[in-house]
Amino acid sequence: MDKRPIGVFDSGLGGLTAVRELRRILPGEDIVYFGDTGRVPYGTRGRDTILQYARQDVRFLLTQDVKFIMAACGTVSSVYPTEEAAKLPVPYTGVVGATARAAAAATRSGRIGVIGTAATVRSGSFAAVLAQLDSRLEVRAKACPMFVPLVENGYVTPGDPVALAIAHQYLDELRDAGVDTLILGCTHYPLLTGTIRMVMGPDVALIDPGRETADAVKDALEQLELLNGTGGTARYFVSDAVEQFRQVADLFLGEYAGGPVEQIPIETY
Ligand code: DGL
Repeated sequence: MDKRPIGVFDSGLGGLTAVRELRRILPGEDIVYFGDTGRVPYGTRGRDTILQYARQDVRFLLTQDVKFIMAACGTVSSVYPTEEAAKLPVPYTGVVGATARAAAAATRSGRIGVIGTAATVRSGSFAAVLAQLDSRLEVRAKACPMFVPLVENGYVTPGDPVALAIAHQYLDELRDAGVDTLILGCTHYPLLTGTIRMVMGPDVALIDPGRETADAVKDALEQLELLNGTGGTARYFVSDAVEQFRQVADLFLGEYAGGPVEQIPIETY
C-alpha cells in the first residue's frame, strides 16, 4: 500500500483520456496530472526539443512525490529513451508497449495500422515493438497532424464534416490496405473515435492507448505492491492559463468536476 499519487503527463490535454481510464479502473488512487498546454503540440517538433520538454515534465512530477509516472503521450513515449526511464527514482511507463501488445492480440489478418503525430510515426516506435512481438505482422503508419488541433478545438462530434473530410484524407489508404486493427497512437485521438470509425468501418478494432496503458499501470502497481485503495482525488497542473483547461477538460475526462487546477512555470524545472 502506497498513498502517494500516480503522476501522469502529456503535451496538453490528450493525456486526460488516460486519466479517465485510470480513474475508472483505479478509483482509490490519487492522481497528479501535468498538461504542457503552453507548449503543445510536441508532435511537430524535433527529437531534442521533445526530450527536453519531457525531462522537465518528469522533473515537475517528481517534485509532487509521485510513486509512478505515466507518459500519457504517444510522442513522448516514442522518443524518451528506455535507459533513461530505467534510471528514474520511480517506475515509469509510456503508452507504446501496452498499446502495441493489445493491437497484436486483436488482429486477425496481421495487418495493423498506426496513426500518430509526425514525431511518433518518424520514430517507428510502435512498428518496432510490433516487429518484436511477431515479425509476420504488416504495419502501415500514417501521421495525422491535423487531428490534435481538431480535438483541441472541439471538432469531436462523430461525423463532424470538417473532421470527417480530414479523416478520409488520412485514413482511406489504411482502410484500403485492409488493416483490421488501428492503433490510435496519440492520446488525443480517442476523442475522434466516432469519426474514425465512420471512415474505417465497424469491423476494424480501434486500440485506445490510454485504456491499454491504464490496465498496464494497474498490473504494475499490483505487482510492486504500490496500490492505494483510500484515495481518489485528482490535481491538475498546466503551463498555460487555467481557464482554457476548465473549458475543455470535461470533454476529455467525461467527469471533470472542477478539481483544483494550477498554472506552473514548467521551463524552470
Ligand atoms: N497527446 C500527444 C500524443 O499522444 C499529441 C499532441 C502533441 O502533438 O503534442 O502524441
